[in-house]
Amino acid sequence: MTGVLTRTPLHRVEGREKVTGSASYAAEYHFGDLLHAWPVLSAIAAGRITDVDTTEVEKMPGVVQVWWHGNAPRLADVGMPMLAVLQSDEVHFRGEIVAVVVATSPEIAREAAGLLTVTSVERDHDVDLDPGNPAVRTPDTVNAGFAGLSEKGDPDSVFASSPVRFDETYRTPAEHNNPMEPHATTAVYSAGELTLYDSSQGGHPVQQLIAGALGLPTERVRVVSTHVGGGFGSKGLPRPNVIIAAMVAVQLERPVRMVLTRQHQFSLVGYRTPTIQRIKLGAEPDGRLRSIDHDAVVQTSRHAEFVEQVVTASRMMYAAENRRTRHRVLALDVPIPSWLRAPGECPGMFALESAMDELASEVGIDPIELRIRNEPETDPELGIAFSSRNLVGCLRRGAELFDWTERDPRPGVRRRGRWSIGTGVASSTYPGYAMPATASATRTADGSFLVSINGTDIGTGARTAMLILAAEALDVDHSRVEIRIGDSDLPRAGVAGGSAGTTSWGWAVHKACRELVERLTELGDAADRTGEVTVTASTSADLKAREELSRHAFGAQFAEAWVDMVTGEVRIPRMLGVFAAGRIVNPRTARSQLIGGMTMGLSMALHEEGVMDPAFGDYANHDLAGYHIASCADIGSIEVECLDEQDSAINPLGTKGIGEIGIVGTAAAVANAVYHATGVRVRELPITIESVLRVPV
Ligand code: MOS
Repeated sequence: MTGVLTRTPLHRVEGREKVTGSASYAAEYHFGDLLHAWPVLSAIAAGRITDVDTTEVEKMPGVVQVWWHGNAPRLADVGMPMLAVLQSDEVHFRGEIVAVVVATSPEIAREAAGLLTVTSVERDHDVDLDPGNPAVRTPDTVNAGFAGLSEKGDPDSVFASSPVRFDETYRTPAEHNNPMEPHATTAVYSAGELTLYDSSQGGHPVQQLIAGALGLPTERVRVVSTHVGGGFGSKGLPRPNVIIAAMVAVQLERPVRMVLTRQHQFSLVGYRTPTIQRIKLGAEPDGRLRSIDHDAVVQTSRHAEFVEQVVTASRMMYAAENRRTRHRVLALDVPIPSWLRAPGECPGMFALESAMDELASEVGIDPIELRIRNEPETDPELGIAFSSRNLVGCLRRGAELFDWTERDPRPGVRRRGRWSIGTGVASSTYPGYAMPATASATRTADGSFLVSINGTDIGTGARTAMLILAAEALDVDHSRVEIRIGDSDLPRAGVAGGSAGTTSWGWAVHKACRELVERLTELGDAADRTGEVTVTASTSADLKAREELSRHAFGAQFAEAWVDMVTGEVRIPRMLGVFAAGRIVNPRTARSQLIGGMTMGLSMALHEEGVMDPAFGDYANHDLAGYHIASCADIGSIEVECLDEQDSAINPLGTKGIGEIGIVGTAAAVANAVYHATGVRVRELPITIESVLRVPV
């Protein structure tokens, strides 16, 4: 650990509570008389539920209520099909909730759910992501509001006339969200007030959507998410657990808890679509790009459209006059895909950064040099300036730390016993998003400070970052400041998503604290007599007043691969990430975020794969026995360094966000290292024994 990551680290303020078990997560709020809800999932991928026979199950001691579409309370349509639970007889995908059992213990609810007789009529399902399917189409817009298609110049004819033409297809599988804490809600309804203790990345969307669905005034719904055990995007919006818990609590007027199991998570909380990506690069013999064409085919669910923005990073990474980036989507009878850490950039940069490595080999140029030769001066598509862009700095610093200059570019020539050894590099990027936020800062009568904002700490260290920023703006010691987050009663702020938490909430916190200091100065001696002084500040107008710029964080990922040429086993003993992500507020938690992202990127490279069973119409592996994620034994050394960057065009703090960039490019760095080790180019993730040994499967 060197550079900016060694400065003023602060332990997580809630660390002691978490390790001693006193920190309450959503399923850890206790009430007498508590009920438990358990879902029954559809065993067919498409069709209709014709009957649910509840008579036997209702006789079981402890069973309080069984709901299915035939008797469940009606919900208002809030435009989010994932929340329209038990509202129709239609089955949209295998693993959809078709009934809910409410009982006095989770064991009884689970047993009853297993005994319920569900009768259905099946229709043919289609779960095959076939790019040749005539129903494949280019949507106008994709996730986060990006254009489905974007073109500049004449990519086709320039590609056709380019001295070097590269054209390959890459594939990534479905990847499933597996935060440590599964989705959970404890709901309490009393005197017309609904309180939801919910494992969420942001309480305000939950409050608004659940109130809307139940027809309650928004201010009668309170969402508390004090501690959250990870989300990766899957908790960015309310999921079925919260609407069911809310519905039960309101209807039965009793507290209720609903906790999804690991298996339930695979169909109910969103996952990353599989992708099929074709990349065409037209280049000069010296590696300079003349054209970039990136086409991605993804799936969505017939039940609700979510199109991952796979090709957006290719719109700004490298210079080329002629470019086309296009999404194509096929709606299938599959669970609804959604956000998973760096939606878009993560799978897209696997393809683009693999392709850049292949092009480097083809033209005989070092892959770092190739990227430097294609560094744009301004955003190559929008023609506007970057707020700051230190990709080259990251690549150069990484090359230094990873001994890149010593590297022999030839693939497949370094052997140690059965092991073939190689190294790889890939660029990384993530947008520098910011969302409007409001915070309040109070000087209390006893002279301490209280800062409040409805941000959420999903394990990132956001609460601690807020504390650092507040203490700094107030110019007082951390010990005099208390931070309150994770409650919809607090000032409004956006979700912990888009790597924009600290940037957005920190900005509002900074502003409120500075204004409080000014107010106290104005009041002078009177401040002491006034007792409590509170200032509330919003960043909405500041955000709108920002200049039009292309705002992104950048990074360089390095990996060393050892491949056993007898068994095909791939090991990654060493990874390095160098990032330029604006100001790093708390080096300790920042390092954790970045190595966490890189670990997840390694997991994507070597392990993670949702395997679709076309007969059942569902992912066959839906637990952690069948769906593999990286564990401690898979990880060797991971080093992270952050460049000293401050980007005041993002916000007055100069932060860019670090939640997602760590996973971007990692898989390409690993695949590129595997190629350098073995001479085998793997274009389909995960990198399996069969793919390395080129065994047909
Ligand atoms: Mo992240 S996928 O923006 O929660």
